[in-house]
Amino acid sequence: MSKTAILEIDSEKFELPIIKGSENEVAIDISKLRDLSGVITLDPGYKNSGSCTSEITFLDGELGILRYRGYSIEDLAGKGHFLEVSYLVIFGELPTAAQLEHFETNIRKYTLVNEEMKNIIDGFPKTAHPMGVLAALTSALTAFNPKSVNVENEKEMYEAVCKTMGKFLVIATWTYRKTMGYPLNYYDNTKGYVENFMRLMFELPTEPYKANQVVIDALDKLFILHADHEQNCSTSTVRMVGSSHAGLFASISAGVSALWGPLHGGANQAVLEMLEEIHRTGGDADKYLDKAKDKNDPFRLMGFGHRVYKNFDPRAKIIKKAADEVLATLGVDDPILAIAKKLEESALVDEYFVSRKLYPNVDFYSGIIYRALGIPTDMFTVMFAIGRLPGWIAQWKEMRENKEPIGRPRQIYTGHPLRDFKTSDKR
Ligand code: SDX
Repeated sequence: MSKTAILEIDSEKFELPIIKGSENEVAIDISKLRDLSGVITLDPGYKNSGSCTSEITFLDGELGILRYRGYSIEDLAGKGHFLEVSYLVIFGELPTAAQLEHFETNIRKYTLVNEEMKNIIDGFPKTAHPMGVLAALTSALTAFNPKSVNVENEKEMYEAVCKTMGKFLVIATWTYRKTMGYPLNYYDNTKGYVENFMRLMFELPTEPYKANQVVIDALDKLFILHADHEQNCSTSTVRMVGSSHAGLFASISAGVSALWGPLHGGANQAVLEMLEEIHRTGGDADKYLDKAKDKNDPFRLMGFGHRVYKNFDPRAKIIKKAADEVLATLGVDDPILAIAKKLEESALVDEYFVSRKLYPNVDFYSGIIYRALGIPTDMFTVMFAIGRLPGWIAQWKEMRENKEPIGRPRQIYTGHPLRDFKTSDKR
């Protein structure tokens, strides 16, 4: 592999460095391109452009590989636990037993959310979508924790990580409690992180929540599978906002908003709504495949396709298997699962999907498990956000520790050339 690339414009040649990652990914470093040549590159959606180097997550879209800090997603989802994997993603190494205990103990220090935050949530109508409330509450945390973290100070950064992990989980469940008109619950520091999620969501003052280990284990695995995914839309948003040195809560709030979109994390809710519609209208999966292929129909097969995975999303394989296991263990017979499998089978042999390398992604089966666990559909993307939180924190921390410059892309102007102002009587 040569060490430089030559760009020739009007017989003038420009030499650009080539860099290679630890997994042999190759990039042309264009950071000096405009200074050298006066030209820029253009890449809507950044399909061909890298924004940074990162040591957190490696994925190979052709081979369906996903690793956090070098550990395969299959290993982590099969043998790890969410807080353990969160520590790995954020700090770079799997924690010792003592480090994990210290991490969980410190998270517990911050699980009490300022009571005045309840005034903010009271301002929302019950009908507000939980993701919109979560974005607002996350940003509002800044008001109660105004001191911005000194990323150079390891202890301060560690405390900020634990504070974010502790408070985000609680306010995420408050968005559900608000829609139900239930009182807001408090974290129970005698119980685990994922068990607390279920308690915070479903425990009523009238009766204690009965933990179901099958549910807790399934959620723990799902959160691990969502923990990070390199430079996806919401993570790139967190890095972009953080690059202006906006605080961690403000940056994560922006990430929540980006994740909400149906082309990104909002797809898990859209998948369930699509499957329910197919079921409601008679279960004709092929009719919906035809709609997805019709260029004149804006309908897309939600949960299918991916910007990077052009083979299969390894997370989808694990979640599909988990869906079978969890529903069988819980004794749930959900016709939606059969419709999802029929859609997948038909799409995997359909030329339209095969030629465009469209396979099920992480969102295709996750909603089926969430539904079996009693999670309401409009909370599915909040579940994604809880899982993705360690990745957002890790990427924000890496960007700041690497002292990356403020994100400020260029553009190519295609509007009017200079023109004179006309007074309104002459327009
Ligand atoms: C996530 O980036 C990440 O890592 C994201 C994520 C993470 O962990 O953070 O993995 C999580 O967001 C998963 C994706 C969830 N979104 C969906 O399931 C929504 C449905 N999928 C699509 O909208 C689409 O596949 C995207 C947005 C996921 C990817 O879009 P791209 O890479 O920009 O691809 P494209 O829109 O250019 O599509 C290429 C072709 C087009 O057809 P042609 O114009 O070439 O004829 O494929 C078609 C598209 O019309 N196509 C689909 C389709 N997805 C792409 N056609 C029907 N149904 C679909 N789902």
